[in-house]
Amino acid sequence: MGNNILKGKKGIIFGALDERSIAWKVAEKCHEEGATFVLTNAPIALRMGTINQLAEATNSIVIPCDVSLDEDMKTLVEQATEKLGGKLDFVLHSVGMSLNVRKKNPYTDLNYDYMHKTLDISAISFHRLLQTCYNMDALNEWASVVGLTYIAGQRVFPDYNEMAEAKSMLESIARSMGYHYGKAKKVRVNTISQSPTMTSAGSGIGGFDSFLAYAQHMSPLGNASADDCANYCVSLFSDYTRMVTMQNLFHDGGFSYTGVSREVMDMMKPE
Ligand SMILES: NC(=O)c1ccc[n+]([C@@H]2O[C@H](COP(=O)([O-])OP(=O)(O)OC[C@H]3O[C@@H](n4cnc5c(N)ncnc54)[C@H](O)[C@@H]3O)[C@@H](O)[C@H]2O)c1
Repeated sequence: MGNNILKGKKGIIFGALDERSIAWKVAEKCHEEGATFVLTNAPIALRMGTINQLAEATNSIVIPCDVSLDEDMKTLVEQATEKLGGKLDFVLHSVGMSLNVRKKNPYTDLNYDYMHKTLDISAISFHRLLQTCYNMDALNEWASVVGLTYIAGQRVFPDYNEMAEAKSMLESIARSMGYHYGKAKKVRVNTISQSPTMTSAGSGIGGFDSFLAYAQHMSPLGNASADDCANYCVSLFSDYTRMVTMQNLFHDGGFSYTGVSREVMDMMKPE
């Protein structure tokens, strides 16, 4: 049972592929909190995934959108505002894809056509989304737009590969667009930097199990789950965080500010 803190709010949620997706949990929580929204994903993901179950459970409709296509983005925003009956109050961008990671190309031997695709889908799409909304005046004043990111945008995690560049760019777009959209329409834009989480995108990263275990041992509160992340998203979509914008917000149980934990030091002890 929610507290209706999103009552009357309308939005778009990108990236719910299956039950493990962070966006899936966000959709469930937004529904619990009284929001109405459109779900969207790439046409191919819609065919493969189970999004219709989520749509049924949350009383929402599904509109396809490949985030790398200007036309798809425009159609999505047009149809979403029409179906929801007005301008939007929140958007979740929960999208990431790297062909170099998929093909297991090492960072020192990247295919640049793939890299362009990675940056387009995982980062530039955030700009495309915000620019489309801006030009169509599709967001209400004080609307909140959130993108999901990872600390590899600031620090090196060798297996995260070119997604590190994508995340740095995504976070920078949140700052720049947060400035312009804030000035023009009081719209806020933030990124949430989430703990490693066992999802389809997450598990594509090499050595993901070790990644997860390391972060768990390093973080004073342990890793933040997808459910916890969804709660944080809800708080950012709500009016309780109206003055938060242009931030990269760590949601990681304290990982980002821990130099080393006692547990990890104990594992390092020489025999
Ligand atoms: N899982 C983690 O460890 C973790 C940690 C921090 C941040 N994140 C970020 O969270 C976000 C969501 O990832 P997730 O872990 O829930 O995995 P996920 O695989 O469930 O979600 C990724 C989504 O991106 C969608 N997508 C890919 N290409 C697309 C395109 N061209 N057009 C539209 N949609 C497209 C996929 O269909 C999928 O729904 C991503 O930005 C990811 O980088 C994940």
